[in-house]
Amino acid sequence: MKPDLSVSLGTLRLKNPVMSASGTFGYGLEFAPFYDISRLGAIVVKGLSIAPTPGNPPGRIVETSSGMLNAIGLQNIGAERFVADVAPRLSEAGATFAANIYGRTVEEYEAVAARLSELSSLAAIEVNASCPNVKEGGMAFGATPGGIALLTARVRKATGKPLWVKLSPNVADIASVAAAAEGAGADAVSLINTLVGMAVDHRTRRPKLSNVTGGLSGPAIKPVALRMVWEVCRRVNIPVIGIGGIQTAADALEFLLVGASAVQVGTANFRNPRACVEILEGIEAFLREERLPGIASFRGKLRL
Ligand SMILES: Cc1cc2nc3c(=O)[nH]c(=O)nc-3n(C[C@H](O)[C@H](O)[C@H](O)COP(=O)(O)O)c2cc1C
Repeated sequence: MKPDLSVSLGTLRLKNPVMSASGTFGYGLEFAPFYDISRLGAIVVKGLSIAPTPGNPPGRIVETSSGMLNAIGLQNIGAERFVADVAPRLSEAGATFAANIYGRTVEEYEAVAARLSELSSLAAIEVNASCPNVKEGGMAFGATPGGIALLTARVRKATGKPLWVKLSPNVADIASVAAAAEGAGADAVSLINTLVGMAVDHRTRRPKLSNVTGGLSGPAIKPVALRMVWEVCRRVNIPVIGIGGIQTAADALEFLLVGASAVQVGTANFRNPRACVEILEGIEAFLREERLPGIASFRGKLRL
């Protein structure tokens, strides 16, 4: 018998728990030459802002031991072009897709959420809360429970779509931030975004990234991500989407085991464009091997 791979994220049912992580999978269509993108639980597209954004000048990416640092600067095509050109093609391809969004102010978040919510084909909105709030001295919205509660409540009012709030790991107590998102109306939380890092060149005496600091991702962050997902799963009652360093089916299963309802795969897509679908096949093979009827009989079953 085929195991039941479907998962529920609140009212949203996904055919399986494997999604691409924002910023590592383009707008989804770029991966259509490698496999049928409609096989994924969902595609989370590159972070969209209300207006197109050019991002940072180069160097924007540095390879590190077991990971990478990026400071892309949230380059994207903007909400209008996404609605007009990309969304119809994702629908044609039969893909389930969610939009990751960001803004420099709460009003910008509201505007992009409202515009994208006009798309009947859009499955969910994922709020990137790691962005600096320009009106509050540049501190990230997601840095405090108060900041996340405000942002979540305002975007909640701007959209009727399922709302996922994506948390920054650069905080002292991520479970409290997650609880604040839940309290303000999030349907799910996704975590983690990248950890702030830095790389310098000792010969040129210069930073390797034009932005000086960047976000660390990849296998290097997996233990931190797993611990944070576990802590958040114990604290909130809404579904948790696990992200961080997932490269294999075993990695994804670890996140499900500590309580995540679904996972997103990021940096692994750069090394292997088929990573998401191979992880999906590996999860199915594991459930068959263990003779489990579905994800539900494995998820959250960590033995302590
Ligand atoms: C090049 C790059 C661009 C990213 N862009 C975004 C983005 O636009 N919005 C967002 O919420 N996260 C973004 N992320 C973070 C990822 O979605 C993910 O949370 C993080 O990389 C950890 O997962 P991983 O270790 O599997 O890559 C980006 C990551 C990378 C590497």
